[in-house]
Amino acid sequence: MSDAKVAKKKLYIETVGCQMNLLDSELVVGKLRNEGYELTDEIGKADTILYNTCSVRQHAEDKIYSALGRIRQLKELKPDLQIGVLGCMAQKDQKQILRRAPHVDIVVGPGQLAKVPELLVQAQEQSKPQLAISLARTAGSNDLVTSSFAEYDPIREPAMRPSSFQAFVRIMMGCDKFCTYCIVPSVRGPEQSRPASIIVEEARTLVDQGVKEITLLGQTVNSYKSVDSAGRTYRLSDLLEQLHEIPGLLRIKFITNFPNDMTDDLLQAVRDLPRVSRYLHIPAQSGCDTVLKRMKRNYSVALYDDMLARIRETIPDASVSSDFIVGFPGESEESFEKSMQLVDRSRFKNSFIFKYSPRQGTKADTLFIDDVPEEVKKRRNNDLLTLQTQISQEDNQRLLGKSLEVLVEGPSKSSKGISAGGVGQLTGRSACDRNFVFDGPERLIGEFVQVVAEEATGVTLFGRVVTQDLVPPRA
Ligand code: SAH
Ligand code: SF4
Ligand code: F3S
Repeated sequence: MSDAKVAKKKLYIETVGCQMNLLDSELVVGKLRNEGYELTDEIGKADTILYNTCSVRQHAEDKIYSALGRIRQLKELKPDLQIGVLGCMAQKDQKQILRRAPHVDIVVGPGQLAKVPELLVQAQEQSKPQLAISLARTAGSNDLVTSSFAEYDPIREPAMRPSSFQAFVRIMMGCDKFCTYCIVPSVRGPEQSRPASIIVEEARTLVDQGVKEITLLGQTVNSYKSVDSAGRTYRLSDLLEQLHEIPGLLRIKFITNFPNDMTDDLLQAVRDLPRVSRYLHIPAQSGCDTVLKRMKRNYSVALYDDMLARIRETIPDASVSSDFIVGFPGESEESFEKSMQLVDRSRFKNSFIFKYSPRQGTKADTLFIDDVPEEVKKRRNNDLLTLQTQISQEDNQRLLGKSLEVLVEGPSKSSKGISAGGVGQLTGRSACDRNFVFDGPERLIGEFVQVVAEEATGVTLFGRVVTQDLVPPRA
C-alpha cells in the first residue's frame, strides 16, 4: 500500500505493562506502518485503536476494561473504527473480552502479534471479530506467523522507542519459573532464548540507526542460554562481551534478573565491561523464607543475602533494585517484618512494591486463600515504601559532590520546556540508573555528559553539567 493518494489510516495505540510490551508495540506499529497506517495521539481521530495489555495485577486489567467501555460510543458513531486488544490480557481472557466488550474486532495474544495487520483485514472482510491466541512458537524458525517476533524482525518503528538513541532488544521470551502468584508463564509461554548471533545482528542494525543505548529484555534475563550450530554455549556474560564489541553502542542494560542465576561470570562481565550499566534489578519478592517457599521462588533469604554480598564485593559501585509483593497469602506481621529488615540491610537504589493480586489460573490462587485484608496490604505497602524512600534518599545523598556520566534523555518532565535560546531543564540517567535533572542546552539530548550531583531527593539528583564526553569513561 504505497499509493500516496490513498489516505493513511490513523492508528492510536496505548501500552500498559512491562518493557516487553513497549517493544511488542513498537514491532506492531512497525508492521502496520508498512501497511499504510500512521500514528495519531488523538483517540477521537483514529481509524484503529489498539490496547497492548498486561495481566500481572487486577488493576492493569481493570484499566483496559474501562478504556474499552469509554470507546464503545466512538464505535457507534464511527462503525468502521477497528478496536484491538493485544498482549497478555488477550491471552488470559480470550473470548471473555469479546463477551464483555463486543465492539472489539481483534483479540491477539503475545505469540501472534505479527498477524495483527492481516487480522484487521479479516475482521473487516468477514465482519466478525478475530481471535489469535496460539502461543505455539517454532524455535529457530523464521516464520513470523508461527514464531511471532521470535526472530529478528527488521521492521521496527523508531518513533515508538523511548528515544531515537535508546532501544529495547528481546533476548528471551516466556518464562518457565512458575512462581505461584504469577500469570506471566501462562500468557507468555515457555522460556526461550534467542540465538546470540541474531541478537548481535539486531543490536548492530539499531546502532546503525543511531541507537546508543540498548536494554536487553527477558523475564529472567540472566538465565539466558543459547547454543549455536557449532555447539558453543552463550550465557548472558558471553552475549554482553559480544555486544560490547559493537562500535557506537555506548551503553548496555539488562532487565530483569533472577537471584539464583546471578553467577560470578555475569558479575565479572559487568565489572570488566565499561559500557555495561552497573545497574542490577533483582527482585527479592519477600524477606521471609516461608513466604518465598510458598511463592516457589526456589531461593532462601540467605542465598539472596549472599548474592548481594558477592555483588557489593565484585562491583562496589553497582546499584541494585528490587521488587516486593506484600500481603501474599499467609504473610504474617512477622513475615512482613522480615521484608522490612531485608530492605533495611540491602540498601537498594529503589524497590517496586506491589500488593498481592490473585490471578486466576495461578497456583497461589488455587492453593491459598487471599487472607491478608486490603487495609493491611495497603499499610504494609506504605511502610515498605516509606523505608525504601528513606534509604533511596540517603543513598542519593552519598553521591552529592560526585561527578557521574549521564546519558541526556530529553527535557525534564517538570520543566517548562526548552527556551527560545535552546536552553532548559534536562533529564538523564547515570550508568547506575540514577535519575538526574540539570540545566543545559537542547543539543545535549542524546549525548553523554558529566554531571555533578548537588541536591538529592529519593528519586532525583539535581546537578550541574561539568563536561561533555562523547565516549563514556570506565565507570
Ligand atoms: N520476570 C520478573 C517479573 C515480572 S512481573 C521477575 O521474575 O522478576 C513484575 C513484578 O510484578 C514481579 O517482580 C512481582 O513483584 C509483581 N507481581 C507479579 N505477579 C503479581 C501478583 N499476582 N500480585 C502482585 N504483584 C505481582
Ligand atoms: Fe513471573 Fe516468576 Fe517468571 Fe518472574 S520468574 S515472570 S515472577 S513466574
Ligand atoms: Fe504484564 Fe505481560 Fe509484562 S502480564 S508485566 S505485560 S509480560
